[in-house]
Amino acid sequence: MILKQVILKNLRNFSLEKFEFNPFLTIILGENSKGKTNLLEAIHLIIHGSGFRETREGELIRFEENEAGIQGVFGVEDENFIFEVILKKKLLASASNVASVEKIFTINKSKKKYLQYLRETPKIVLFQPEQIEIITGSPEKRRRYFDNFLTSFDLVYKKRLINYENAIRQRNKILEKYRNELDLRDELTFWNKYLEEQGTYLTQNRKLYTDFLNSHEKIDNKEFSIEYLKNEFNQKRLEENFDLERRYRKTIIGPQKDDFQISQKDRLVKNLHHFGSRSEQRLGVFWLKFNEIKFIEDRLKIKPILLLDDIFSELDLKNKKLVIDLVRKYQTIVTTTEIELLELADMPKSIIKL
Ligand SMILES: Nc1ncnc2c1ncn2[C@@H]1O[C@H](COP(=O)(O)OP(=O)(O)O)[C@@H](O)[C@H]1O
Ligand SMILES: [Mg+2]
Repeated sequence: MILKQVILKNLRNFSLEKFEFNPFLTIILGENSKGKTNLLEAIHLIIHGSGFRETREGELIRFEENEAGIQGVFGVEDENFIFEVILKKKLLASASNVASVEKIFTINKSKKKYLQYLRETPKIVLFQPEQIEIITGSPEKRRRYFDNFLTSFDLVYKKRLINYENAIRQRNKILEKYRNELDLRDELTFWNKYLEEQGTYLTQNRKLYTDFLNSHEKIDNKEFSIEYLKNEFNQKRLEENFDLERRYRKTIIGPQKDDFQISQKDRLVKNLHHFGSRSEQRLGVFWLKFNEIKFIEDRLKIKPILLLDDIFSELDLKNKKLVIDLVRKYQTIVTTTEIELLELADMPKSIIKL
């Protein structure tokens, strides 16, 4: 699918705006704070049903407004599809200034449930400088990265992840409050079985994806690998850790404690989190991103749309060339403050000046 057009209404800093996109390359050009990232986030919203900043959903709605909307027109050959997401603030009676957000999804004007909607939208691959945190950041950052990616592929994964996280909260409440061991064992039986079912699905799919990554090792002639440091939730480990869990009054095993170690192979295998230079860490992130594209193409036989948020200023020449090779192959929407950074003179392109 090719993104042809979006109309934004009261979304972040846009009141009412229409943008057209080139089937090859669209450059969103503008000084800082003009809304370049907001526009990319809006495209993310229409495809994933959520923004990409770690903020509350209500913040997507323009200051002082109560409703926002985005409509996107996508084309496949001669056919057009109109996707639409509407966000409505609902004030909660109890806490007067905290709003929850209702989301309404439609495809070609007919209303869809969230998961139904996600099944139909195209795929995007997002590149942002902040993604270096997948390598430099905490295990939670890495889990969130893999969860977001797997979730965008597999709605069962999404459901089970939500189930798992909710059940862990329930289980922790029981551990916090228990009075005697027998009651505790009794109360935990249901949750232990349930969490094993949900958690095993997560572990298996994280494993499958890291296997996929390890079968595509090279980028720029450098080899990368990933080690899945899994923390399974199963009855045997529960027994082994029961005393500790009682002492800490908290669940201490399970995929909510997983981590992933990304390495570059030279003569030795070098863990990029601890020993990578900035440029090697960036290349490690590209390795992950290139594999997102590969996975989408392998599994779905479609081409993703690439969103590049201001990534060129930080790249050295070699890494820049790697990205530019991608830009030539996929519909790409890129934000930048300086057009010279792109050096893509020979490509068909449009410029959106903000
Ligand atoms: N809900 C909102 N309503 C109005 N303006 C917003 C909202 N959220 C963010 N902004 C504004 O958007 C601007 C940032 O836009 P951004 O897309 O990050 O800029 P750029 O990427 O061009 O540097 C800021 O001025 C910020 O205050
Ligand atoms: Mg920006």
